[in-house]
Amino acid sequence: MKPINVGLLGIGTVGGGTFTVLKRNAEEISRRAGRPITITAVADKNLALAREVTGGGVRLTDDAFSVVADPEIDIVVELIGGYGVAKELVLKAIENGKHIVTANKALLAVHGNEIFAAAQKKGVMVAFEAAVAGGIPIIKALREGLSANRIDWIAGIINGTTNFILSEMRDKGLSFAEVLKEAQALGYAEADPTFDIEGVDAAHKATIMSAIAFGIPMQFDKAYIEGITKLDATDIVYAEQLGYRIKLLGIARRREQGVELRVHPTLIPEKRLIANVEGAMNAVLVQGDAVGATLYYGKGAGAEPTASAVIADLVDVTRLHTSDPEHRVPHLAFQPDQVRDVPVLPIEDVVTSYYLRMRVDDKPGVLADITRILADSSISIEAMLQKEAVEGESQTDIIMLTHQTVERNANAAIAKIEALTVVSGKVTKLRMESL
Ligand code: HSE
Repeated sequence: MKPINVGLLGIGTVGGGTFTVLKRNAEEISRRAGRPITITAVADKNLALAREVTGGGVRLTDDAFSVVADPEIDIVVELIGGYGVAKELVLKAIENGKHIVTANKALLAVHGNEIFAAAQKKGVMVAFEAAVAGGIPIIKALREGLSANRIDWIAGIINGTTNFILSEMRDKGLSFAEVLKEAQALGYAEADPTFDIEGVDAAHKATIMSAIAFGIPMQFDKAYIEGITKLDATDIVYAEQLGYRIKLLGIARRREQGVELRVHPTLIPEKRLIANVEGAMNAVLVQGDAVGATLYYGKGAGAEPTASAVIADLVDVTRLHTSDPEHRVPHLAFQPDQVRDVPVLPIEDVVTSYYLRMRVDDKPGVLADITRILADSSISIEAMLQKEAVEGESQTDIIMLTHQTVERNANAAIAKIEALTVVSGKVTKLRMESL
């Protein structure tokens, strides 16, 4: 049968992996797709690299616009990243009637609404399994496998770089800055790791998952984002003493008044499977009303794991491209006219429980003052740890774990605690989820 023709934009790590796996598993993939999937054109600024990876048997160009305009190309795979030229190319390809496969989470989280609307109008598919958690088929699971469920919440370790850093901080008792240097030397973290360590990459992925889980538009600009740069190694140690691990979680939760969409370091009970996901691995926990909790685990990055997701999308598009657009799986899982503009709640309206660490004078009545403030704010204490003062010091650390309360209430109580003369400096506040 006539092959389906693919134009590849970007032959870096994921592009190279896609080329290699498509070639290695060509026969198996063709048996699944019903026809061969052939990369016929590759665009990359680095033509020498493109020649080296492809062996030169395909059309190579440094002009990506010539690929999206090529009438022979059926599917454009966008692996350039970012939302500059990648957005222009994707919109142009859609205008030219091409289907899109992309790994670009930033592009979809920020401009997805516009891109999906354009694709809908043109009757083409935009597939994006590789955009979230690399090789884990979490988009397929949320959009199709769990479609019977009302999804209540999702919590994911969806950034491998930060999970590697947190694992190393815990294992080796090192500071954030020390581990970041090590991660960069090993090539795990980018030279500019800002998007990873500040939680932006995880927020892009959480935004995409929230849209397909709840049938809402992409609302990246409303997400609450807190990375791991300010996380103190002391808190990892104290959390462990209380039976918790700290992970950077992307959380999307359905609430009556709207949706919580947040990324921040989070204490998780150490007995949860997801708390034991270490190193650069990813995992996503999804709670559906019928199925209960389901957990998806695997590699969230890398050449072949991400290529696995890109090629699964290529197979899907190949199988469906001759079908009636109205009968395809909708881009955002829900029919386009059923996507609801549910608001993302501000962080002050989030309901969760807290880890509070404070430096206090070690003298009678201090604990009573603090617990009085919490009691007056209707905040119940779940557990507490007080360290013995170091010999010769008159201050010590108190760590409290609270039951759930609304964040606004927690903040007001913390301000009152910080105003006590027996408390020095700021209270460290971390959010906790029992999952
Ligand atoms: N930079 C991401 C991570 C991988 O560290 O998980 C690509 O999404």
